[in-house]
Amino acid sequence: MQDCQLIVIHAAELVTCDSGGGPKRGAEMLSVGSIRDGAVAVADGRIVGIGKTSEILPAFEADTVINAQGRVVAPGFVDPHTHIVYAGDRLDEFEMKIRGADYLEILTGGGGIISTVRKTRSASADELFEQSVSRLDKMLACGTTVCEIKTGYGLDAESELKMLDVIAELDKSHPIDIVPTFLAAHAVPPEHKGDPDVYVDEICAAMLASAWEWYTSSHFYGRVPFYCDVFCESGAYTLDQSRRIIETARGLGFGIKAHVDQFNNLGGSRLAIGYGAASIDHLDAISGGEIADLADSDTIGIVIPTENFNGGKSHYADARKMIDAGCAVALSTDYNPGSAPCPSQPMAMAIACRYQKLLPAEVLNAATINAAYAIGLGQTHGSIAVGKSADLVIFDCGDHRQISYEFGGSPVKNVIKSGIICY
Ligand code: NIG
Ligand code: FE
Repeated sequence: MQDCQLIVIHAAELVTCDSGGGPKRGAEMLSVGSIRDGAVAVADGRIVGIGKTSEILPAFEADTVINAQGRVVAPGFVDPHTHIVYAGDRLDEFEMKIRGADYLEILTGGGGIISTVRKTRSASADELFEQSVSRLDKMLACGTTVCEIKTGYGLDAESELKMLDVIAELDKSHPIDIVPTFLAAHAVPPEHKGDPDVYVDEICAAMLASAWEWYTSSHFYGRVPFYCDVFCESGAYTLDQSRRIIETARGLGFGIKAHVDQFNNLGGSRLAIGYGAASIDHLDAISGGEIADLADSDTIGIVIPTENFNGGKSHYADARKMIDAGCAVALSTDYNPGSAPCPSQPMAMAIACRYQKLLPAEVLNAATINAAYAIGLGQTHGSIAVGKSADLVIFDCGDHRQISYEFGGSPVKNVIKSGIICY
């Protein structure tokens, strides 16, 4: 009998989402690796045993035994693309968009992301922290145990570093594990509106280097990667500007991510894949040829149907075609004040099933194991496997398909993060 910290028993389905290494691609995404009447044993925050309840109970002993009573137990969700550190809201813009205003027109008119930049610049780090903690709490309640957070509402050296400091404080104080991403090229700052290249020069000459220095002296260094992201889009950054930023970032040691093909195809997908990006995100306007390139690469395609849903759009990224072509597809909420004010991966899954024609098993893998690989944590998070962090969600249902079938409420009963019950 092995002594351990916690055992969860009698899961109707213990959904492991395990891949045995690497993200799942194509038809592999149809398998969630269910164990009927499953159980998990946890020691020191990590998974030490997985099997049927009848196998785990005789092998492990713990003071805390949780009886899942016929519910689904699955890995905690990983949300690989969020913008949750910001001040204020965009409620006025919400009404403008309902009345027909266009997202990119609002942005180029000095609103949208820029209106959040104004509020974020004038907020203190403490104010930003307080507002962001409540967003992380909502994500945890929806079953997310790991997420990525981008900067990008500072758009100057000082405010971007303030955002990075807030991200570090959130990681230290909140159960959700965080991976930081530097997105200084999120929008063109108002003071550089007429000449964005001056700002791109500043990013390449100084801001990326100071962000990298911040990372190497932060508690993240050596534990999680640090990414550089760029919004390659009409009204944001051109292909050439994106290339300069990505190339400089790569040279410094950053991992690469890119917002591409959200509205217009500027060629950003091919560019980012060529630089070995960990992920390319949005992909609403990606071409068939680029989908083939993605399938041939190690880059993960992150689709974000919450953005289309929130924008009232009828067109969604063709995630069905991507999976059928053999791509590794991940799913995110994009939680942000403008294009996707949504903390819930189950909601993103529900939309992906209906509007992107993905099956419940595919969206579950997309929001767990593939999402973990999209932020460089696939070896340690994103599935229920021996040695991985004990990040588990007990769902209030007995079949994993129910998680993306019922929508509008929360399917989550309990969340266990690193072996500790935190919701
Ligand atoms: O992923 N496209 C750029 N960035 C975000 C939106 C951020 C915002 O509107 O504040 C996105 O959709
Ligand atoms: Fe985004």
